Amino acid sequence: MIAIGSDHAGFKIKESIKDFFQREGIDYKDFGTNSTESVDYPEFARKVSESVVEFESEKGILVCGTGIGVCIAANKIKGIRAALCHNVNYARMARKHNDANVLCLGGRENTEEESIEIVKAFLATDFEGGRHSNRLSQITKLEEKLV
Ligand code: RB5
Repeated sequence: MIAIGSDHAGFKIKESIKDFFQREGIDYKDFGTNSTESVDYPEFARKVSESVVEFESEKGILVCGTGIGVCIAANKIKGIRAALCHNVNYARMARKHNDANVLCLGGRENTEEESIEIVKAFLATDFEGGRHSNRLSQITKLEEKLV
């Protein structure tokens, strides 16, 4: 299952991604927001991120105006590797090299079509492992304050 959430500025793109998931038969859970009324993005970043680290969802998708706020907030949750991706190559690299488990999108930065292509690339690309695994272990140590 994919966890998805946004603030008001990402609402429209979130709904487009949900339409795509429905067309493709991809299982998802929507953590809100549910309209374009102004809300604060950290709450939605937390809900999506918790769903991922608690293994309810395989991956998460978050959308705010730029994607920056939700990305900063999501990365505060232990176990989250959230990546702000403005294009398909970023999404591929975030998976291949960083094993990103949350994709962050800028609802005011990309079109609906571009956003869906970014989502497709993110979901279709596997982590390469190898030398990148060691680097991720070092990030985990930073989280654990072991270095
Ligand atoms: C909301 O206006 C905007 O600040 C928010 O969606 C996001 O872009 C923050 O990083």
